[in-house]
Amino acid sequence: MTRRVPVATLSDVPEGTMHMVQVDGTDILLVHLDGQVRALQGICSHEYFELDKGFLTGDSVTCALHLSRFDVATGDALDPPAELPLVTWPVTLLDGSIVVELPDGPIEVNE
Ligand code: FES
Repeated sequence: MTRRVPVATLSDVPEGTMHMVQVDGTDILLVHLDGQVRALQGICSHEYFELDKGFLTGDSVTCALHLSRFDVATGDALDPPAELPLVTWPVTLLDGSIVVELPDGPIEVNE
């Protein structure tokens, strides 16, 4: 089962930017790229580091700590040292709200 959680408004995440939100204490990174908003786990899958402190380059997010890149669309780790992908969740836009589809229970991330 899933739940649909409004987490921000579109104006919080202008095109070409990232924005971190929290749901139940879990960091979720919103990325607005090429007209699409995506939601990925906000903490790097390598070590504990917030990805909103990293860089959005092309269609990937680069972690600022050890420079692993992650595909924004799939969450896949593109470079070492990270090996595990970032968990991603479906996003819909509803009247300017960014709504993320999350599991009903605990929000699992890769670490
Ligand atoms: S903490 Fe992100 S690559 Fe190491």
